Amino acid sequence: MYNALEINDLFFKWENKESFKLKITKLEIENKKKIVIFGKSGSGKSTLLNLISGILSPLKGSLNINNIDITKLSQKKKDEFRANNIGVIFQQFNILDYISPLQNILLPCFFTKFKKYDKLYFYDRAFNLAQKIDINKNILLQNNSKNLSVGQKQRIAILRAIINKPFLILADEATSALDDKNKKDFINLLMNLCDEEKVTLLMVSHDTSLKKNFDDFINLEKILIRNENIN
Ligand SMILES: Nc1ncnc2c1ncn2[C@@H]1O[C@H](COP(=O)(O)OP(=O)(O)OP(=O)(O)O)[C@@H](O)[C@H]1O
Ligand SMILES: [Mg+2]
Repeated sequence: MYNALEINDLFFKWENKESFKLKITKLEIENKKKIVIFGKSGSGKSTLLNLISGILSPLKGSLNINNIDITKLSQKKKDEFRANNIGVIFQQFNILDYISPLQNILLPCFFTKFKKYDKLYFYDRAFNLAQKIDINKNILLQNNSKNLSVGQKQRIAILRAIINKPFLILADEATSALDDKNKKDFINLLMNLCDEEKVTLLMVSHDTSLKKNFDDFINLEKILIRNENIN
């Protein structure tokens, strides 16, 4: 068994905010598994994802991704590590309106591998992946992304997370903005692409109906050490 993610004795709290503390003694996610973490609003789901992606830093503990403890990296190395290894799908997709759908998909490449590889490789990859999920060239090459439907935005967001061949995909409640049909489509597309690309998926959500689509689920409340037990 190889762990894509391993968290040990993690402790985080916001500066000047005593009411919220996040402490996890142990969390392990096996490579290539698709895992969902459930938790109610305010329980710390987004905070946890931001810690895993290295946007926030814990006060204590280790956070190993692909056997690298990101808490030991400098901010610059952490940013590089994120760009090379982690794909993120945001809750509201965060598609930039003023650039084309294709440019949205290729954004993560500009931070890393784009410099090293032939540009054409990633253009081709974007077109090929898009075709698989029913996004045609005309959609990709629109001048801007203002007029995309919610369903199109969700697919562009998936492609943007996967374009750079990440090791781990983090998805933050990506289904909450969607109706039932779009939600089902989104989950199916994401699952299929993660299988094809052999990537580990960690999603956080409050929607326990998603359980059946994942290899396993975790209740955040169960792995968090309660505030009153934290020194
Ligand atoms: N930038 C911040 N500064 C201070 N406190 C914050 C900040 N962001 C979040 N918090 C607090 O951290 C706690 C956890 O918030 P978080 O956003 O991680 O919850 P969540 O589970 O993602 O909630 P939701 O389901 O509503 O998205 C909350 O008490 C919140 O108020
Ligand atoms: Mg959140």
